[in-house]
Order: sequence, then structure tokens, then C-alpha cells
Amino acid sequence: MRVRDAQFVGAAPTWAALPPPGAPEVAFAGRSNVGKSSLLNALLGRKQLARTSGTPGKTQALNFYAVNPAPDRGGAGGVKEPELYLVDLPGYGYAKVSQGQRAAWQRLVGRYVTERAEPAPDHPAPLRAVVQLIDSRHGVTKMDEELMAVMLESPAPHLVALTKADKLSANARQKAVAGIHKHLRPYGLELPVVLTSAEKKTGIDELWSWIWRVM
Ligand code: GTP
Ligand code: MG
Repeated sequence: MRVRDAQFVGAAPTWAALPPPGAPEVAFAGRSNVGKSSLLNALLGRKQLARTSGTPGKTQALNFYAVNPAPDRGGAGGVKEPELYLVDLPGYGYAKVSQGQRAAWQRLVGRYVTERAEPAPDHPAPLRAVVQLIDSRHGVTKMDEELMAVMLESPAPHLVALTKADKLSANARQKAVAGIHKHLRPYGLELPVVLTSAEKKTGIDELWSWIWRVM
């Protein structure tokens, strides 16, 4: 399967604003400024579909991107589902937000990754996988650990994408991957780890094959 077309379909700032369960969803989470929007653009083969910025905390809601949206046939009320949604979760741990905003983030994202990954009697679980982004230069920070604790509440499979790998030497990249595995081992976690660069398009094919495999 390949990305023929992609489209921003909407931002959900609250639970009530989420679209009704439909096509499978893959969520992307990470510290603010880790490179989520850039990686989504690289996956979707688009330059600025997801807005990127040097200002952390720009993405405040759950942003839904449709992969291969169904052609608009203009019929009356027919449900048109894309093949898949990529969901950009709001950035975590942005220093300038209040305690209250942080708690609201935790409630919304925590609920999304758990409840949305549970099947209902009338439909399968929409959330099929969670990709956690970690900056390859910094290793696992305290904020990444806090976020991972939230993500691991999800029954959906979990993958770690190391971002901005273009900023590292080949040797440092291998060390970054080994560092993640070493960090996770005491928790008994064996998560797949993919080195990525939105800038150089590194790891994009690998990430897609993992996504299609777990869907
Ligand atoms: P928020 O939405 O604010 O939480 O940030 P984000 O995680 O979506 O990060 P975004 O994609 O906006 O990127 C943040 C900064 O990192 C921007 O200045 C990007 O240009 C830069 N960046 C992102 N990906 C890469 C990459 O692969 N390589 C390099 N060198 N820079 C990158
Ligand atoms: Mg963003």
C-alpha cells in the first residue's frame, strides 16, 4: 500500500470533538518540538500539510490526517472513509503551559490512547498503533518517560521513532538506538526502534512497513 493522497481532516481539542470511530488510526506522540509534524509530513509526502514551527507547543489539539481519502462522489450521506488516519497528538511537556492545561492534556491523550484502542460491540478498535517520537540527540528525557508511561497504558502496539537523525554521525546514531534499548530493558520492554530524519527522509519506508504490518 502506498500514500497516493493525504488530507487534513480536522483538529479535535476535546474528547467530544473526535470523529466517530471509522478508519484505522495511528497516533504520533512526543515532546513539543521533537519533530512530530515534520515526520508526519515526510510520511505523507507533503511539505507543509502538518504545520511545523520553531515555537514549541504549536499543535494543541489532536490533528487528523486522512491517508488515501475516498474520492468525493457527492452522493447523499454516504460514509466515505480513508484507508487510514495519522493522528498528530498535542505536544507534551511544553514548559509554558499551566498545571491545569497539562492535566487537561493528560486526560484527553490518556483517554484517547486507551479507550480508542478498545473494540466496541459495533466496531473494531480504531486506534491500531502508537508511535512515540524521541529526539535522537537527547536520549530518553524525564518528559519522554512520563509520556511513555501514558502511551504504555494503551493496548495498541508501540514503536519508538528517533527523530532528527541527520544531526548525528553514523556512530552516534547506532549509539542512540542502543541507548533506547538499554533504557527500556529494565522495564522488560522490547519496543521496535526506528531511526528517522524528516529532513533526509530516513526511516520513512521502514516506519510505513511497520505501520501496515500492525494494522
Ligand atoms: P510541536 O507541534 O510544537 O509540538 O512540535 P513538533 O514536534 O510538531 O515539531 P516540528 O515538526 O514542528 O519541528 C520542530 C523543529 O525541529 C523545526 O524547526 C523543524 O524544522 C525541526 N526538525 C524537525 N524534524 C527534523 C529533522 O528530521 N531534522 C532536522 N535537522 N530538523 C528537524
Ligand atoms: Mg507539531
